[in-house]
Amino acid sequence: MAIILDGKALAEEIKEKLRVEVAQSGLHPGLAVVVVGDNPASRIYVDSKKKDCAVCGIKSEEIALPADAGEEKLLAVIAELNQRPDIHGILVQLPLPEGYSEQKVIQAIAPEKDVDAFHLINVGRIMVGNYAFLPCTPAGVMELLDHYGIDPKGKHCVVVGRSDIVGKPQAMMMLHRHATVTICHSRTPDLSAITRQADILVAAVGKVNLITADMVKPGAVVVDVAMNRDENGKLCGDVDFANVEPIASYITPVPGGVGPMTRAMLLENTLTAAKAAVGLQKE
Ligand code: GUN
Repeated sequence: MAIILDGKALAEEIKEKLRVEVAQSGLHPGLAVVVVGDNPASRIYVDSKKKDCAVCGIKSEEIALPADAGEEKLLAVIAELNQRPDIHGILVQLPLPEGYSEQKVIQAIAPEKDVDAFHLINVGRIMVGNYAFLPCTPAGVMELLDHYGIDPKGKHCVVVGRSDIVGKPQAMMMLHRHATVTICHSRTPDLSAITRQADILVAAVGKVNLITADMVKPGAVVVDVAMNRDENGKLCGDVDFANVEPIASYITPVPGGVGPMTRAMLLENTLTAAKAAVGLQKE
């Protein structure tokens, strides 16, 4: 029987802490969320981000563009947001519709307002461990582990998935915390031979039941970053939770694990950006 890593509860604690901090700081943090097109998943994410902001006293502004607005228009919107003193964080919801270069769009965001930490400047800063922002999902994973007293130092951390948003920065952050890190991906032969070595296993692929019980070392910490729908349309991650949970020491549920932590980290990054804008460092 594993201990459940309750991201939902921890995210609520973090949001309350941020709410108090925002109220006491006298700052008025502002987050712009840019949405292009009408991807239904993006709609849900954006609505929950706006709700989170309201709870914490962070102003949020949604800029919705039609799918055919065009890259030039989107770049002009970003250029304007870059200039606005009341906007401290800019998030362009991904994926963008066909016809947009995500890289070009991300690089147009002022690095000091890049609360996703996707800009090359911020990616590079993470690499050397001198960063202002961390990408929200891997940062949320680290906070969750810290909260439960799970120290990556000296552990073998296996990250399955090598995306720029999660897998790669997650591996780097584990490395900074002195884990021995292995990154696996779709071309890794005999995936289970490697995942079975993991003291901390992070699954970030997006494939239902990718991680089965035979792939997990008894007593491992299992973190499921994915957000999939099973054949019945039910939310689930990459891990076969029912069969892995009995052998893990700690495990994240989906939903209620990493997802709420990701959202909380976005709020933290927005407050960090607002503080930096007035020359305050985050404690
Ligand atoms: N789409 C899915 N996850 C994310 C995220 O963390 N940031 C942005 N901008 N878009 C996303």
